[in-house]
Parts: sequence; C-alpha cells; structure tokens
Amino acid sequence: MADLARPAHFQSETAPGESRATSASIKLDIRGVTKRYGAVTAIDDVSLSVGDGEFLTLLGPSGSGKTTLLTAVVGLTAPDRGEVWIDGALATYAPPYKRDIGMVFQNYALFPHLSVFENIAFPLRMRHRDAATIRRQVSRVLDIVELGHTADRLPRQLSGGQQQRIALARCMVYQPSIIVMDEPLGALDKRLRDSMQVEIKRLHSQFGITILYVTHDQEEALALSDRICLMRDGAIEQLGTPHELYFRPRTIFAANFIGDSNIFEGIVRSSSGDVVAIETEGGLTLHARPGTQRVNAGDHIQLTIRPEHMQIVPAGDLAANQISCHVESVLFAGSLMKVFCRTDRGLAIQANLIASRQELRSGTPVQLGWSAEDVVLLQGERR
Ligand SMILES: Nc1ncnc2c1ncn2[C@@H]1O[C@H](COP(=O)(O)OP(=O)(O)O)[C@@H](O)[C@H]1O
Ligand SMILES: [Mg+2]
Repeated sequence: MADLARPAHFQSETAPGESRATSASIKLDIRGVTKRYGAVTAIDDVSLSVGDGEFLTLLGPSGSGKTTLLTAVVGLTAPDRGEVWIDGALATYAPPYKRDIGMVFQNYALFPHLSVFENIAFPLRMRHRDAATIRRQVSRVLDIVELGHTADRLPRQLSGGQQQRIALARCMVYQPSIIVMDEPLGALDKRLRDSMQVEIKRLHSQFGITILYVTHDQEEALALSDRICLMRDGAIEQLGTPHELYFRPRTIFAANFIGDSNIFEGIVRSSSGDVVAIETEGGLTLHARPGTQRVNAGDHIQLTIRPEHMQIVPAGDLAANQISCHVESVLFAGSLMKVFCRTDRGLAIQANLIASRQELRSGTPVQLGWSAEDVVLLQGERR
C-alpha cells in the first residue's frame, strides 16, 4: 500500500549526475561528496538524493565506498568536499545526534546487562520521555517485531535473529525520520535473513520511514529496495529501480553484479527497421532492438542476455535469435536448471530453464532461442 503512495520521482531511473531531484519530498540530498583516505578515494564526487519514505539501497562489492557514504550521511565521517542536506537543511558538519538518524549495523550492539525492554527504552530515556510514554512506545514496537514475550529477557537469551529484531525495534522506537542500516543481516544465516527481509520491508511500510540500506547482496537489494544505487570504486555505476537495474543494466559491471548474464562483444553489421544485426566473437549473428539507443553499422558493442530469457527451441523455430550448441553441464536448482552450453566454436552460454522431469544430459545438442527484445546493449566501460 505504501508503494502506491510513493512519489513519482523515484519510480523512474535517474542518470548519475542528474540524480538530484528538485522535488520538495527530498529527505536526504548528497551533493558532490568526496572522501579520501591517503591515496585511496573512498567516495568520489557522489551526488544522490533520497525521497521521503523511500527505501534506497547502496549495493556494491566490498571496498566500493558504501560504508563511507553512509557514515558521511550519519555524521561519523566529515567529507573532504561536498554537502549533505537533510530535510532541506545543510547538515554536512552537524554532529550525529543532531541529525535525527537511526542506525542499525551488522553487530546489533545491544546492551548485554539490560533487559530487552530496557534496551529498547534506552533512546527514549535519553530523551527524557515519561514512564507511561516509554511503556506504551516500547510495547508497540515489541509487538511489531513480534517479540513482546521477550521483554524481560537479557539479549543473550535470544537468538541472533531475535537480537537483530530488537536492534531494529530500538532504532524505530523514537521514530527517527531516517534509518541507515549497514549490512544489518550480514551475520545471519540464509533462512533468518529471508524472514528479516520481510520484517524490514513491513516495518518500512508501516512507519513510512526513509531507509538508506547497505548490502553487497544483490538479491537482498532487489527484494527490498524502491531504488538501488550500484556503487563501484567510490562512484555511482547505475541508479534505478530494481526492475531497471535487472532488465536494463547499462554496463558489463552492472549486468554481472546483478543476476546471471551472458555477455558478448560484437560489431553492428546492419540495421533494418528497429532491429540491428550484430556479429559477435565466435561467429554468431544476433538480433537486437536498440530502442532509443543509437547504434550504427561498424560500431563495436557489448551486449547481454539473461539466461532465463533463453529457451530450448525446435529446429526451424521463428525466434529472432537462435544458436546451436551442446549441453556441457547442468546445475539443478529445484525450480530451475542452470544449463551451461557451448557452441562448436567454443563460446560459452548459460540458459536457465524451468526444471522439467526430463533430464538434460551433458553432450546433448540443443538449439537455444530468444527474442530481440531480450538483448540489452551495454555502454562501453568507464575505463
Ligand atoms: N578509516 C579508513 N582508513 C583508510 N581507508 C579506509 C577507511 N575507511 C574506508 N577506507 C577505504 O575506502 C574504501 C571504501 O571503503 P568502504 O566505504 O568501507 O567500502 P564498502 O563499505 O563498500 O566495503 C576502501 O578502499 C577502504 O579500504
Ligand atoms: Mg562496508
């Protein structure tokens, strides 16, 4: 429901550099922030605005600058250049406690000697709320994380997942208008992580809080975010909705980082109507619809096709793209099979097929087909 109420400006993709919307609903505005540590530029002239109530995720490999950007937002790091604006006010050098930002980190850092109730009450006691208010607010967030029955326990009497929920509750209880989370589920096992993701998503829509989330886990980013800011070497590689990043990656880096991808290089041979023919390494001719992208005959380009867009097709099928290859190996993943194929000229291709009772043995010749719409043309590498 909260999704329907989201302002339109973060439904659509904004290019890096034009990522500062001018809308009044901007909660957090990062303008040209740079931070260096000696010779290392941890973040390099990053501009990014986060809408009020938006769930924005910084996604990227280790060392790409996610934590540095987050600490600049929170006020734990002073940028060398650039500005941080919160609610339309300059906050670059404001101390952390003046920023009204809640933080949740990977190690939940609960006070071990305080009960669950007192842990959650802590930020309220710091703010000198009266006892009745504290009781009411703590009970409310305990109910939301479904841990009301643990109020009198000590943190060590809870599981890791429960402790992380308490850390979330402690952060929510004083209703900061922004919450930042740095890999908050990183220490949890997969099953717990999945249920915590649902929890975080639910808390987000219930409270309408702006969340700036950090993860290196692409599935987590896709599942949780209104928008994803893909980071690489301290800069924004691509900013957009999960759907845009998945279906329209702009670069090889983006295509590789999110989901499985087949990536080819080739030369544009001809274009007729809105379809272009591309001759790839390994002697394939592929057809793509570049849409609004401009390509000319002779251009050297890179392109990607998601493995799930490929199907096994019968000989003589009408799919725009078809290649003959043989199955090299199959990775059975329950609902789907990851089928690794190779053409006669040695090109590797991955097709993710819906698993069927029929086993696909290695060595089997197959014809793979996919449509021109599923071929995504990439931009050249940054360097
Ligand atoms: N306090 C620091 N001192 C020196 N280098 C740092 C410091 N913090 C981060 N860096 C460097 O800045 C870069 C970005 O780090 P970080 O923001 O922690 O990335 P991420 O959170 O994406 O893993 C890395 O090269 C890291 O080694
Ligand atoms: Mg980090």
